[in-house]
Amino acid sequence: MGSAQGTTNRGASLPRLNSNINRVGTGFAAFLSPPGPEVIRFTVGQPDFDTPGKVVESAKASLDRGETAYTRTQGSPELCQAVSEHLTKHKIQIDANNIVVAPGCKQAVLYAMMATLDPGDEVLLLAPAWPSYDGMLKMIGAVPVHVPVKRDNYHPDFVALEAAITSKTKAIMVNSPNNPTGAVYRPDEVEQLVALAVKHDLWIIDDMIYATLVWEDYGYTSPTQFPGGKERTLTIGGWSKGWAMTGWRLGWIGCSTEVANAVKKVNASAATHVATFLMPAAITALSLEEETQMMADSFKNRRDVIYDLLDSLPGITVPKPEGAFYALCDISGTGMTDIEFANRALEEAKVQLIPGSLMQGGEGFIRISYATSMDNIKEGVRRLKLWLEGLR
Ligand SMILES: Cc1ncc(COP(=O)(O)O)c(C=O)c1O
Repeated sequence: MGSAQGTTNRGASLPRLNSNINRVGTGFAAFLSPPGPEVIRFTVGQPDFDTPGKVVESAKASLDRGETAYTRTQGSPELCQAVSEHLTKHKIQIDANNIVVAPGCKQAVLYAMMATLDPGDEVLLLAPAWPSYDGMLKMIGAVPVHVPVKRDNYHPDFVALEAAITSKTKAIMVNSPNNPTGAVYRPDEVEQLVALAVKHDLWIIDDMIYATLVWEDYGYTSPTQFPGGKERTLTIGGWSKGWAMTGWRLGWIGCSTEVANAVKKVNASAATHVATFLMPAAITALSLEEETQMMADSFKNRRDVIYDLLDSLPGITVPKPEGAFYALCDISGTGMTDIEFANRALEEAKVQLIPGSLMQGGEGFIRISYATSMDNIKEGVRRLKLWLEGLR
């Protein structure tokens, strides 16, 4: 009987866990643990700014108005409208009714995958890719297929992408500006990605979370702009990076009506909605210009400084980062593996870095986040230089 079973001690035997879970990795976790204060951290992928004060005030005012009850699951009409209007700045036209606000861009990416993929479907990732994509795909029984980008500039290798497509390929994940490479794909490359998706009838899952942080003239390019792209692209972004709102857990997903209806079902089953009193704050954030521009300008300055410094390190090659706040360094010239490099940099130079092989296709690279102070940037790279020169 059920009640007897519930109280029976079954000893060491427990039901098995979800069989996909063992295949899911832990991302960067092992190299993110906070070190002592003497260590410079180039590991943390979040802005070092406080959330703009007007956003905080807006959330407080909402709480004071008592806006703490359940509300519309996809997000308030005003919030969905604000996201839809924001996206027009990136030449993306998505009706407010087809916008869903989710607890973080990360969860919005998971929604996109859950709405479009079946177990066994293959998804192209441009490798090295942000490790959460791999984990999410494995979690839902889909299959990540890591296709290396070009080693000299981290842009898509179309020959390799075409060769990786099978009858099971169902989607391609695009993330430009990119974590971990810092690459921003040119308009002609995005057009070519769309053409590939149209030719092979693939969904395009476009993670544009870093879209406001681009250091090249051509800016972020949406796949929705090109023939066949609008219907098959799920556009996903959020407030974490461009607005310094990582802890608020707010992201969006926008797509064509049929797909949006599927995403709404996922969201209604998984989250109901994001915190009601965060919705006005999210709208306030999207109305800001000065504050977000100031943060973006600051990251661009840091990019300029860190690039020149990294470029002078012995044994290290680094293409100029084009967006986001990451520099991916090829350290194979040092003769160390990336894990050895990261471990020794922490021990011997007191600098914390992410080794590339935590991501498939990232062997021989280390990721540097320059979302830290200019002083830290200068001191951290100075330490790396002294350390590397001492090894010669
Ligand atoms: C490419 C990419 N997408 C999504 C996220 C997560 O965004 P959020 O904090 O809004 O979930 C990150 C965070 O590092 C990221 O690098």
